Amino acid sequence: MTSERIERLLGEMTPAEKLGQLQIVFRPRPDDAAQLVREGLGSVFWPPSAAKTNELQRVAVEETRLGIPLLVGLDVIHGQRTIAPVPLAQAASFDPTLVEELAALAAAEARSGGVNWTFSPMVDVSRDPRWGRVVEGFGEDVHLTSVMGRAMVRGYQGGDLAAPTSIAATAKHFVAYGQPEGGRDYNSVDVSEHRLRNVYLEPFRAVVEEGVASVMASFNTVGGVPMHVNRGLLTDMLKTEWGFEGVVVGDAEGVRNLLAHRVAESLTDAVARSFEAGLDIEMGGTPGEVAEAALAQIEPARIDDAVRRVLAVKEALGLFENPFVAEDEERTEPTADSRRLVRRAAARSSVLLKSEGTLPLRGGGRVLLTGPYAESPDLLGAWTQFFAAGAQSVAAEARGRGLDVTAVPGVDFFAGSDADIESAASAARESDVVVVLVGEPSALSGEAASRSDLRLPGRQEELIHAIAETGTPFVVVLVTGRPLVVADWIEAAPTVVVAWHGGTEAAAAIVDVLVGDEEPAGRLPMSWPRSVGQIPIDYAHENTGRPATVGGTLTTEVADVGLHGPDNLQEKFTSKYLDLELGPQFAFGHGSGYASFRHGEPRVSAAELTQGEAVTLSIDVTNVSDLPGDEVVQVYVEDLVASVAPPVRRLAAFERRAIAPGETATLSFEIGDEQLGFWLDGRFTVEPGAFVLHVGPTLDRAQPVALTVRAR
Ligand code: BGC
Repeated sequence: MTSERIERLLGEMTPAEKLGQLQIVFRPRPDDAAQLVREGLGSVFWPPSAAKTNELQRVAVEETRLGIPLLVGLDVIHGQRTIAPVPLAQAASFDPTLVEELAALAAAEARSGGVNWTFSPMVDVSRDPRWGRVVEGFGEDVHLTSVMGRAMVRGYQGGDLAAPTSIAATAKHFVAYGQPEGGRDYNSVDVSEHRLRNVYLEPFRAVVEEGVASVMASFNTVGGVPMHVNRGLLTDMLKTEWGFEGVVVGDAEGVRNLLAHRVAESLTDAVARSFEAGLDIEMGGTPGEVAEAALAQIEPARIDDAVRRVLAVKEALGLFENPFVAEDEERTEPTADSRRLVRRAAARSSVLLKSEGTLPLRGGGRVLLTGPYAESPDLLGAWTQFFAAGAQSVAAEARGRGLDVTAVPGVDFFAGSDADIESAASAARESDVVVVLVGEPSALSGEAASRSDLRLPGRQEELIHAIAETGTPFVVVLVTGRPLVVADWIEAAPTVVVAWHGGTEAAAAIVDVLVGDEEPAGRLPMSWPRSVGQIPIDYAHENTGRPATVGGTLTTEVADVGLHGPDNLQEKFTSKYLDLELGPQFAFGHGSGYASFRHGEPRVSAAELTQGEAVTLSIDVTNVSDLPGDEVVQVYVEDLVASVAPPVRRLAAFERRAIAPGETATLSFEIGDEQLGFWLDGRFTVEPGAFVLHVGPTLDRAQPVALTVRAR
């Protein structure tokens, strides 16, 4: 982590100069930024242009005593100029290579403008769709989040951080931020060590192993201890146990927030305790004298350690040799290639939720586009900035491609009148097919955007019913940043595609999917609940002592259970809701595509293995349709008996594979310790015993294969 240069600098630095390296001031005014840098501030938010960044770097290297270059941070979350689908959508692609390519594109665009540090990826396992930030992560699953997090880190950081196309990544928010009580952003988290290790920490461990340059502390408490002062997790776990050598950055004003948490008496106290706990850079910045007083209370070795970490990232980024970027090479606009990539990504992220054959729209004819997303260009998603390349609406895109479309939105996101809905319905009667484009505007997801009601806002559901009543064939396209509750209309809609917030080329991708140029073969990265009351409804819940096999029985069996025999009586005392069917509306991993596939019997290279060994699981998949298509094969592990209640199933491997019509592909997966083990009492353990692997296109269509692990 250190070098001769770093040690020399450390030897020369005054306490004030050290402090400067340990702060990033939260969005100062541009004039103030130069002055702060002159005074020794070591990291800034992106100004935003290559020229302005170079100016600040020049102040840092030429007008400060030690000439240390700046970290230039920015939330590059799903693109800088060319906007990719939101991360939750990227997860739905089940295509880590694509995620890596998208991050590499974002990094190249960002670094060309002088950004060298992003606050992404978010690897918070997220199981509560009320929480608006689910949009920013990879959903509910530990394995999918870990794989996609790793891919994103590789994409941002490349092989060499000093390359002009690489930026330092930040894994956030450490840790368990994805499970705030009630789904309210910034809320408390109380989680067992067992679940912390097996669920929330695991993707962070994965990206640390992948070499992520920094980790951001989260706003929440864990067991009453706000993460900014959580020494056990920031230092003992992250830095000591995992050997993380990068920078721990605080979240925006996270140190100051300790006062509101009521765990610090003063800002001085808050700063001192955060750095003692393991923070290396405070985001938000505490005024000089206060921070200096705080740092004076801390072991000098801890301060030096923090400074060393910051300088090491700057060194790895090659900033000491080359703090500037070529202003004439700044990428301020998408290119044809970048547009092609995000367009393909948006299509590949789309999920066919339900299909009764209306799609793809091959016949042409008169197409009505209705719903607020017919004409709205609000398709970029939650985390984009003013300099991002905008999207056009689906109507504009469809017209540009010569389709015979009429657009009658019928309703706005939040309002609508009977007359407007009626005009959409009468236009539907005059059309051959209707595409109902409904969803959540981007502002309803993201940070500080929790919702208590996950139905389509406004009168959008009424619009769907009004269109259904016309009898004209129709499809629903859902544009959203989170799972929605669709129970009130899903039966009325024959075909539904989830397009998410797809970025700069979202409209083109939606049309590609509608006309069949692309296939919506993604899979859900989060389960969709039947109602808000059912949350959390993740598929990988622990086995209970009273598993239910029947639910939704309030009006039928359970209401008059007393009149039934012992079998039905037993059903009453199981883990379920009386007034809902069992399980989510759509489970994690759900989806299909336009092509159809036949799965052969899965087989393992050996039915028994010893701890430390691996077997190969294989399955033949044949495309039995006349369309080229992608299948996503998912492998779930069921641990039949363990020393603690295991999850009912958990994803252990997956692959998305393109298979030509008539072709049979063999997909193979290595299954060993990593897939079969779990964290127990602080150790990763593979317990001997019986397992079942469930292999298939979705969990409910998976086939079982038995596997036995023997003790070594
Ligand atoms: C968010 C972080 C983000 C930071 C800087 C905070 O409010 O929680 O995810 O990186 O702001 O913009």
